Amino acid sequence: MQRIFSGIQPSGIPTLGNYLGAIRNWVPLQADHDCIYCVVDLHAITQWQEPSLLARQTRELAASLMACGIDPVRQILFLQSLVPEHAELAWIFNCVARLGWLNRMTQFKDKAGKDRENASAGLYVYPNLMAADILAYHATRVPVGDDQRQHLELANDIAQKFNHDFGADFFPAIEPLILGPAARVMSLRDGTKKMSKSDTSDQSRINLNDSADAIAQKIRRARTDPEPLPGEPAGLEGRPEARNLVGIYAALADTDEAGVLGRHGGKGFAAFKEDLAGLLIATIGPIAAETARLLADPAHVDGVLRGGAERAKRIAGPIVAEAKRLVGFLAA
Ligand code: TYM
Repeated sequence: MQRIFSGIQPSGIPTLGNYLGAIRNWVPLQADHDCIYCVVDLHAITQWQEPSLLARQTRELAASLMACGIDPVRQILFLQSLVPEHAELAWIFNCVARLGWLNRMTQFKDKAGKDRENASAGLYVYPNLMAADILAYHATRVPVGDDQRQHLELANDIAQKFNHDFGADFFPAIEPLILGPAARVMSLRDGTKKMSKSDTSDQSRINLNDSADAIAQKIRRARTDPEPLPGEPAGLEGRPEARNLVGIYAALADTDEAGVLGRHGGKGFAAFKEDLAGLLIATIGPIAAETARLLADPAHVDGVLRGGAERAKRIAGPIVAEAKRLVGFLAA
């Protein structure tokens, strides 16, 4: 059975982008894969996180993942910082990856913005830690949103260079799984910007704990253009806001752009938005309710992350020990 690894940062409430681009695809993979899902708190601190808030958001994210259908009993759900092998292997990868490779990473450029001198060194080597997350388990398939494609290419470059430098066929190739019509969900305020947990405007995103009223209001106010919906996908060209809402609708209704436009083409946005809000509320409402139910017992949620970490460590321990042996470190 192939092993899946994926991660999500506890840097805020998960958004509809995280859900449609990643989490929702993680659930069915559990049926026929060995899955390891990770709350990546080491990644989160590459940008400032208020300590008390980080702890709370970590727990909320774990509860939210379970509410979405991640099964912590048959699969592994754990907290990255509880398995030191991630940081250990990341250090080795810091010495394998080349500066030239990291300089090409568009996410660093986006996140560091204009004040690059003031970004943390951790933000710069973020993709090396991500490669370590996956390769510490010899995972071969990684379900992510489209924005992570470049990081996975880098992880493959690191694996190949490690194998070449140390003369071993040790780390496997990684296959990105970028699935569905909503692999890149855009902001509700600007169809050219990614929907993100960290956007300053709450109106730009749907959060997985939003109330039905909040969802309906955000969709009603979502930016659109004055034209009616086109009858075919080609008509979405140059209309990023329309394309975004159609993509979200398609993902929720398990269809594609053509399927959505077949039903709604020619209509104005008002009726379409009302339908879309209904679909969103039907999907997110139960997730928010189940998350709240799980959070009533925080000790249980923390126990899931700790128990998952013990099981994760049993897999990563021997793999990282072998990587260290290949590098030439003396055994413990
Ligand atoms: P994070 O927390 O930023 O995002 C988690 C997942 O959500 C996807 N995603 C989106 N998909 C579609 N549209 C959006 N607007 C959107 N925003 C986020 C991301 O692609 C991601 O799949 N670096 C990773 C976390 C990570 C990881 C890993 C992933 C750390 N180690 C190892 C896979 C394997 C990230 O961006 O997290």
